[in-house]
Amino acid sequence: MSAPLKHLLSTRDLDLETISWIFSRAERLKRMRAVLSTDERVLYGETTATLFWEASTRTRVSFELAAIRLGACVVHLAPKDSSIAKGESLHDTIANLFALGCRYFVVRHSISEEVKRLADKARYGAHLINAGDGTNEHPSQALLDAFTIRERKKTFQGLKIAILGDILRSRVARSNLYLLTKLGAQCFVAGPPDLVPEKLNVISTTIAQNMDEALTDADVVMVLRLQKERDGKKFEISDSEYFQKFGLTRERLALAKPDAIVMHPGPLHRGVEIDSEVADGPQSVILKQVENGLFLRMAIFEALRGELG
Ligand code: NCD
Repeated sequence: MSAPLKHLLSTRDLDLETISWIFSRAERLKRMRAVLSTDERVLYGETTATLFWEASTRTRVSFELAAIRLGACVVHLAPKDSSIAKGESLHDTIANLFALGCRYFVVRHSISEEVKRLADKARYGAHLINAGDGTNEHPSQALLDAFTIRERKKTFQGLKIAILGDILRSRVARSNLYLLTKLGAQCFVAGPPDLVPEKLNVISTTIAQNMDEALTDADVVMVLRLQKERDGKKFEISDSEYFQKFGLTRERLALAKPDAIVMHPGPLHRGVEIDSEVADGPQSVILKQVENGLFLRMAIFEALRGELG
């Protein structure tokens, strides 16, 4: 029996029962192609709001589609089009949406831990989902990544997962490290020395000396974007130099196992962190990750709704 899930803020908080419930449910939703009977639409009559302080394509659209598939109404609020532009706080905005019946809030914010602060202050009955907070966490992305890995590799035990690129500023890296190591994988991180933390307080995680060490015999290669919008000036390198030193090319990928899968949370910068030949190649599961995002996010809503077994 899993503990009830009130908010989804971090992959650190998730217990193995909850993760396994979310995966099995997402698997079932995938088999059903997300088409549910009226009785199964557990968010029927509910309202979900998506509040995004940073740009998004995949995360926002898949959360909105997931809520709609489950029968909810969806409202999207961008700060510039709302009373936030007139100085209203985000907390007050959420309280007002709550008064209008909204119970599910999918929030992306540029400040780390901001979604947790909002969740701590929100009215009882509100469910907050962290859709990416600064450089901190992006739990739904990690869950869909792990789900995609499980689909291809069946188990996490003994898997070598290389996470490459801008580790320091990536919320996707952090959420994935917490989750994938909890599930039994061994993670290796590598990238530009300035963008790989000197220490990482995560079990079963190795800071590789270089890209080759992380890539050698990897089962999964996860490539991350250079997060130039976060302290961009601290790390200056041209796109072509980045590609030459750290880009995932066919030659570099050859160090990994022949059946290794290639992942990327998007948005892709082709010719910077990844070569098109690899992104569109036979080992790439990048669009599978996007596809799985819908089923996984439906399962997250169901878990928050109290459907956990
Ligand atoms: C990521 C994000 O916004 O954190 N993208 C996503 O949600 N799919 C990664 C990124 O922006 O690089």
